[in-house]
Amino acid sequence: MSQAASIEWWNKSLDEVGIHSMDKLVSADANWSTVLQSGRDDLARAISITGMTCGMDRTAVEVGCGLGRMSTALAEHFGRVVGVDIAPRLIEEACRRNELPQVTFEVADGVHLRPQAITECDTIFSYEVFYYINPDGLTTYFRDAFQLLRSGGQFVFQLNMEPVRWKTRLSFLFRRVLYTCGIKHWRGWPTGAGYRRYHHSPEWLSRTLTEIGFRVDKIAGPTARQQWVVASKS
Ligand SMILES: C[S@@+](CC[C@H](N)C(=O)[O-])C[C@H]1O[C@@H](n2cnc3c(N)ncnc32)[C@H](O)[C@@H]1O
Repeated sequence: MSQAASIEWWNKSLDEVGIHSMDKLVSADANWSTVLQSGRDDLARAISITGMTCGMDRTAVEVGCGLGRMSTALAEHFGRVVGVDIAPRLIEEACRRNELPQVTFEVADGVHLRPQAITECDTIFSYEVFYYINPDGLTTYFRDAFQLLRSGGQFVFQLNMEPVRWKTRLSFLFRRVLYTCGIKHWRGWPTGAGYRRYHHSPEWLSRTLTEIGFRVDKIAGPTARQQWVVASKS
């Protein structure tokens, strides 16, 4: 799957599905304040599972911020938040909806994690993003995250660690067929090419992060779909 197809797919997720497209659990008739509340709830759960360090003297970067649902929630725990995302349409909408001066958004090139707004930060956070990125792409992001973090900083991210089974692969194929037949949505998502989920094992994550220089503090979560990784730059 090309990067362009992925960007197109995420741009379309807003225009063809709506603001609830950022989280499957947000209901289809949700308004913006409900979406923001879902971000607060998801972040509260993330903090309780990961024990991540927060503080109004700290700067956080959110990777794959989408419409800024989690970035807005992060601003209640961090003094400065920079959200980055590959989808220009989502960043445009995030900027339009944002009312907080300490939160900014920018488009990322999808290859490197080098925000223009800051040169270093204390926390890099990501929710519901990294399983859309292939192992090579993720390794580059991990290297850049290590560079971007201050000493003592934390890298905190969630991954769906369910193996990609034949049923999942079949559904990718089915979506392609639907799209070719002119059916542009299925189960609340665009059917066009561009969606792909990757499985990254805990062993691969630990090894890759450690080789880059991180200390892996935790890989844990209530379910395989909601696994959290906490790594520090010591
Ligand atoms: C399910 S949404 C989650 C958005 C946000 N984290 C939230 O929870 O509301 C996934 C987001 O990841 C972004 N994304 C996908 N691949 C990316 C990449 N390689 N780099 C940065 N963002 C990416 C998409 O554009 C989309 O906004």
